[in-house]
Amino acid sequence: MKKIGIFGGSFNPVHNEHVKIALGAIEELKLDKLLVIPTYVSPHKQNATVESGEDRLNMLKLAFKGVEKVEVSDYEVNSKGVSYTYLTILHFKSIYPNATFYFIMGSDMLENFPTWKNPEIIAQNAELVLLNRKGDSHLNAPSIKKIKELFNKEVIFLNTEGENVSSTEVRLRIKLKLNLDGIIDSNVKDYITLNNLYGLDKYYNYVCKVLPEKRRIHVLGVILTAKKFAKLLGENEKKAELASLLHDIAKYEDPSKYASVLPSGCTSEVAHQFIGEYIAKSTLKIEDEDILNAIKYHTTGRKNMSTLEKIVYIADLIEPSRKYEMVTYLREVIGNDFESGFKICVKEVLDFLKLGGGEIYYLTEECYNYYK
Ligand SMILES: [Fe+2]
Ligand SMILES: [Fe+2]
Repeated sequence: MKKIGIFGGSFNPVHNEHVKIALGAIEELKLDKLLVIPTYVSPHKQNATVESGEDRLNMLKLAFKGVEKVEVSDYEVNSKGVSYTYLTILHFKSIYPNATFYFIMGSDMLENFPTWKNPEIIAQNAELVLLNRKGDSHLNAPSIKKIKELFNKEVIFLNTEGENVSSTEVRLRIKLKLNLDGIIDSNVKDYITLNNLYGLDKYYNYVCKVLPEKRRIHVLGVILTAKKFAKLLGENEKKAELASLLHDIAKYEDPSKYASVLPSGCTSEVAHQFIGEYIAKSTLKIEDEDILNAIKYHTTGRKNMSTLEKIVYIADLIEPSRKYEMVTYLREVIGNDFESGFKICVKEVLDFLKLGGGEIYYLTEECYNYYK
């Protein structure tokens, strides 16, 4: 009897981790065939903007070119509409009636699996295979137990451990003109360039113009971290992305050119937050007050901050490329609880500045006194 794996997703775009997972699945599950199936519209991401099904299919074909046992399928793309997994599995079951199917899913999908459309049809017709991602917190026993109770089904774990690269990060890297070597296939990269996919918008363009690569890597980290917290706290992810993207736009501006914009007594260390807000408003025509304030107070904080302001402040402090001694501890306290972690961060920042012996701007103290 044939063993056929089903590996679905948006693949927007396909990256090297997808390929690694596919190869790992073929080997570990001893598959005769692995169907890689891009969704047309994902039921979980109905509002997301994705490149066309045709482009995503073409990129998958390039990434999997010459890879044995892999078949890139256009079934869901050609079916149009929302791509429901149970329909896909029934379709392939009708083509290969005697095969055993292995449905491969990310561990982040497991928790919601019971709420998918007709999950029992999926569970009846396929083995459920769970991927491991580094640092994954989703592999919790309750959701696995729940699957067993609901569907009388054991979940199979793949040992292949993926790096925590996401298509979101790949798209941001493209927009920030950052290196993609080792992250996506070079033919896929050429395809993206040639077809002008994931095109630049004016804000990303501006950031690429005014910030050097090193600072853009920091910005990437701030965006990814802020988006994560926005999702967690029910904030608008788009606003978190834009505020994070722009938070350091004035980092390389000469403060002496912006004297009229700077409040009196403003130190050189904090000047860029005020100039940044000014540029965002006057040059980039950002009108959203919350975004402007998130830029304006990202270094000092202030009294009574909005959730978005706190998110950008924290993301700036703990994003993955930050290397200072305390950062692991701060990531931990924020990971445990955002609000109490935020207060700890505010205190630690002030302590650190006092230790350095430099001037401390009044907003930093005000922020500390308000939240202590
Ligand atoms: Fe900054
Ligand atoms: Fe920053």
